[in-house]
This record gives sequence, structure tokens and C-alpha cells, in this order.
Amino acid sequence: MCGIISAVSCRDVTSMLIDGLSRLEYRGYDSCGIAIYGKKNLRRVRSMKRVYDLSKQIIEHNLYGSIGLAHTRWATHGMPSTYNAHPHFSSLDSGKPRIALVHNGIIENYDELRVELQESGYLFESQTDTEVLVHLINHNYDGDILRTVQKVTKLLTGTYAIAVFCADEPYRIIGSCKGAPLVLGLGDGENFLASDVLAMAGRANEVIYLEDGDIVDIESNNFLIVDSDNSLAHRKRYPKSSFIGIVELGTYRHYMQKEIFEQPRAVADTLQEVNIVSENIFGIDAEEIFRNIDSVLIIACGTSYYAGMTAKYWIESIAKIRVSVEIASEYRYRDSVVNPKSLVLVISQSGETSDTLSALKHSMSLGMNYNMAICNSQTSAIVRECKLCYLTRAGIEIGVASTKAFTTQLTVLFLLSITLAKNRSILSRDNEMLFLKALRHLPAALSSVLDLEPLVVKWANHFANKENALFLGRGMHYPIALEGALKMKEISYIHAEAYPAGELKHGPLALVTDNMPVVVVAPKDILLEKLKSNMQEVQARGGKLYVFADADSKINDDSINLIRMPEHYGMLSPILHTIPLQLLAYHTACIRGTDVDKPRNLAKSVTVE
Ligand code: F6R
Repeated sequence: MCGIISAVSCRDVTSMLIDGLSRLEYRGYDSCGIAIYGKKNLRRVRSMKRVYDLSKQIIEHNLYGSIGLAHTRWATHGMPSTYNAHPHFSSLDSGKPRIALVHNGIIENYDELRVELQESGYLFESQTDTEVLVHLINHNYDGDILRTVQKVTKLLTGTYAIAVFCADEPYRIIGSCKGAPLVLGLGDGENFLASDVLAMAGRANEVIYLEDGDIVDIESNNFLIVDSDNSLAHRKRYPKSSFIGIVELGTYRHYMQKEIFEQPRAVADTLQEVNIVSENIFGIDAEEIFRNIDSVLIIACGTSYYAGMTAKYWIESIAKIRVSVEIASEYRYRDSVVNPKSLVLVISQSGETSDTLSALKHSMSLGMNYNMAICNSQTSAIVRECKLCYLTRAGIEIGVASTKAFTTQLTVLFLLSITLAKNRSILSRDNEMLFLKALRHLPAALSSVLDLEPLVVKWANHFANKENALFLGRGMHYPIALEGALKMKEISYIHAEAYPAGELKHGPLALVTDNMPVVVVAPKDILLEKLKSNMQEVQARGGKLYVFADADSKINDDSINLIRMPEHYGMLSPILHTIPLQLLAYHTACIRGTDVDKPRNLAKSVTVE
């Protein structure tokens, strides 16, 4: 969840570290800090404000040097504060700092280690688990920082990605990771360690993804990697072209807005190589695996989980295969019924979500070995673990609230549904052509829905002064209502709940007053008439209805706020109906003046449990 960037170079590294850090803020932004070794001194600046404040402090304190570590934090142990911000230091008896360390992850046995270190005389100035690590390294330091990190990491329980510097050996940085990502970047006369390649864009020519238990030793012109058995390790190098460059905001006000408007392109790119419905697009073994499965188990978190919920409707209806959908953090800790003939389908934008990755590994440990990832990151841990994979080509998503990742996931899930149906020989040629045509038309359809923005902005003005909202949907649009409510709560901080509309009368109706806006996703499908009755239940209690309906739906009531979708989208309707809900949350948040791209308490990539 935190972001690490560190560099050893033959030139000054401060501006590079600051640039890298600002590109890592999506991983957490409670506080940030940077430590630099220069003029034979190890010094640091830390801030509760954003990275721009660090830049000011660097100038004020004249902090320059060719080796340094930087960190942006998402608080787990200890509140957001400057004294809890990384880098953490451990000093010699003279008070001179010797070890500097940045950490992403959670050290589970930090309490007992802390007691031992306190008994040895170490004073703690933060509430973090990380400070235990830095003192532990100082305590065990034997003149060789690589050897010391090898020894100390054996004492740890939990997850970590760390970068460590020792002032006694001011030409090298040691990194190590277990259960949290760490990438080595190789540049010209400089090398880097970071949580994400994005932090090194423009400076690294090649990257190496470290594996669990690896320890890496970097100098400006050399590096070596040892694995958990202390043997030299040779890991695959990826050229510059394989990782994504920097993303500019352009004329948009926020990345979230940019990403909402990128959806036609993202969906078109995701479908780029799809000419026919064929198993091959999911991997070479897909045809055989699909033939052998008797059910699908979808595992995901948050927005990706809602994509999975929508897929259940599609797969069961089109391919007639039983689907269960599980929240990753729940699945991994419960006794479930093991079915080796189930396809475990993990959905993740980042491919690094700890809960999802652990749930996937849990399913494998239970003997469920048919697995597949739908993911937006080619080099992620989840993709590396899975036999089958379909990469969404949404492009990097910077806004913390997921938008284009969700609609591209849905696109792939629909494609999977028709592919499974074809694999079972229950997809007629006519339907195959019809569905493919609808998929090809999707980018254009998304563009026409985006044109509704001005109408949605008017609604956002009504929502901006509310503190609660209800979202209703039925059938495959219920998960879309859930996603709409999640977007609303996470970026506008309005308390929003979603229900399958038929559930309203079983309790939530008690919340409806004339101060409760109720958003209804109401496409023209077999449930529309039922939904209209649910809407009347709301109106009868004074609730204000905001309804997204199809162009030709018979809803003619002046007291209802109505936006008509440009066309009728059939089975793909959930994808299209997502767009106005994203826009509604976005514009409501803008009017309320929240930090849209970096909502409070959240982070983009959740690599801790
Ligand atoms: C909400 C959001 C989160 C993520 C969730 C899973 O807008 O972005 O709910 O969907 O943290 O993340 P991934 O898809 O990266 O596994």
C-alpha cells in the first residue's frame, strides 16, 4: 500500500526521487519522506502534506546527494503523522544516523521484536512496525549490510518490501521483498528500487520484478540478486518498451474524469484482437480447461468484485454454468467446499491486491488448479500465478476510484461468457454474430452515453448537499447500483447504499424521506414493470427519484427526474449504465470540493491484508 522509490547514481537523485514519489502517491498519501546521503551525512525531510511540500523542504535544507530513499505512506500501524512517516532511522550511540529504511507491508511479530530491542536500549520515536526493522538491522549490523539484511529478514513474520541504506557503506542500497512488490530498475550509471515501474519511468532502461524472498544489492553500476536460499538468482529482464510511461492529465480537471472519458478507447483496445469467439484469447490451455470445468468461482475485491457479480448473471444465463462470487478477504479464511473442476477466476485491476492474491493461492493450496486472471497489469503477481489470463487494456488508472478498469473487466467477462457458451456448443451462430456485433459497437455506444454529462451535472447539484443516497437496480443491474453507490461514497463521502429494488420493502424503505435521493438503474428489460412498482413505493414515502431509463421506456411521470439512455443496449446494458453513475459521483464530489483522485483514507493498490 505504501510506495517506495530509492536510487544509487553517479549524479544527484533528489529530483528523480521526488518525481518518482509523486507517481507513487496512488499507493497511499498519508505522509511522505525522503532521506539523502550527501556531504558524508545522512539526512531526511518528512511531511504530512503532499510531495510538493517535500520539494520545498529539500530546497530549504539543501538536501542533495547521489544516493537516497523515499516513501509515500498509507498508515497501518500508527496514525498519519510526521514522526510515523518513513524513512525511519536508527542511529549510533553518538546520535549520528547510521541506517535508513523504507518499508511497505506489515511486520506481524513487531511487538515481540520491539520489546527485545527496547531491552537492548533502543528508543522508539514512532508507533510503526517499520521502526522495529530499522533498529533490528542496526542491532545486527556486522560491517556488511547485505549479510545483515539476509540475517534479519529470517527473523520476520509478515509481508514486506524494503529498501535499506547504511551510512558505513554509502555506495549501495539493499532491497528485499516478501508478499509485497519490489522492482529493480537498471539505468545508465544508476540503479533503482521501487514499488512500481511507474516511479522509474524515463530513467530505467530495463526492469526486473523481484520474487518473494529475494534480496537485491544495488550500486550505481552493479547489482546482484540472491534468493531465499542465499543462492545467486537470475531473474528475467524486461525492456523499457514493456512498461508504461508517464500519464499526463491533459485538459481534464482530474485523472478520474480523464479515465471516465477514456472508456471508449479502453474498451476498443481491450477488444483489439477479438475477431471471432475463440478460447485461444484466454490462453493456449483455455479450450481444454473450459471443457473440463463444471462451475466458476469468481474471487475479487471492491469494484472488481462487482464486475464478478455482474458476470454471474451473464455466465449463468448465456453459458449455463454455475457461478459463485466471493469477496477475496472472506473466501481465504472460511471453510469452503473444494471443487477441483471449478474455474477459479480472479479479477483485479492492479493484479497486486493482497487479499485477491492470497485467496488465489489459497484456492491452489486446496487443489483447485484451473485458474484464470482478468487483470490490467501484465507483469503483476496475480497474472504470474494464473494458468489463463486476459489482459484488459485500460491503460494505467491513476484515480483511486476505479472506472475504466471496471468497464473493461465487464467487457472481458461478457466475452468470457459467450466463449464458455461456444465451448459447450450452446451458442448459436446467430447469437455469436449478434454478441460480437454488440461488442464491436460498445466503444461508440459508450461515447454516446458520455454525451449525457451535462444532464448528469444538473443532478449532481441536487446531490451535493445531501448526506445519504440510495441506489436501486434489479438483476444484472443490481451490481451496477452497488458500483454506483461505492463510487458515490468513496469520492463524495456521501453515505450511499445499494439494494436490489425488490429488497426495499424488507427494511431499507424505512430510510426513505423527502430528503433521500434514490437513484434507479431502470433499463427496459423483463424486470422494468416490477421496478416501476418499487419506484412507486419510494415516491409514496416522499423519496426523490433519479431514474436512468431507456429511450423508449414508458415512464412518463413529471415528478421523476429522468435521464434517457441514448439507445437500448440489451445484455451489455450494465456496462453502459455504469457511465452516468461514475459521472454522477464525480460531479457531486467536485461540487463538494473533495480530493477526487485521492479520496481520504484510501489508496489505489491494496497490497496489505
Ligand atoms: C473502488 C476501487 C476498489 C478496487 C479494489 C480491488 O473504486 O478501486 O474497490 O476495486 O481495491 O482492486 P484491484 O482491482 O486492483 O484488485
